[in-house]
Amino acid sequence: MVCLGNICRSPLAHGILKAKIKKRNLDWEVDSAGTSSWHAGNLPDSRSIEIAYSNGIDITDQRSRPIVAADLEFFDLIVAMDSANYNDICAIAKNEAEKNKVKLLLNYAYPSENRAVPDPYYHGGFQSVYDMIELSIDEMLKKYNKID
Ligand code: 4NP
Repeated sequence: MVCLGNICRSPLAHGILKAKIKKRNLDWEVDSAGTSSWHAGNLPDSRSIEIAYSNGIDITDQRSRPIVAADLEFFDLIVAMDSANYNDICAIAKNEAEKNKVKLLLNYAYPSENRAVPDPYYHGGFQSVYDMIELSIDEMLKKYNKID
């Protein structure tokens, strides 16, 4: 799960997916990263921590890190929150196979619409961001046939 700072959106996506995977006993490895290293080593934004907590998810074990080229080799799916993230990730892909692993999160809920999870860092809207991330993760899990 990848956004710009890895402190607002992708930590929520990381925490939500991790919780759903645990609940379903799936053997998936989940991580998140930012396309920038601006907040490397930092906890998620306190507003993301709070909104996750109010929805029953603890994300305080997470620390921001920048995405690295090895992530595109290791992970089967690299899920971007918006098209700027998508383009920045594709720019470090070494080949078509790696580029094909990069997806836009909201396309799972709204196929081909290329909608963005809006960046809540400056203007808030964390619950609405949480809800759209959760909706799309549910669709993503359905797509890969991991839930009925
Ligand atoms: P995120 O939000 O990409 O969802 O983690 C942002 C966090 C920090 C900044 C921008 C977006 N920033 O400009 O520092």
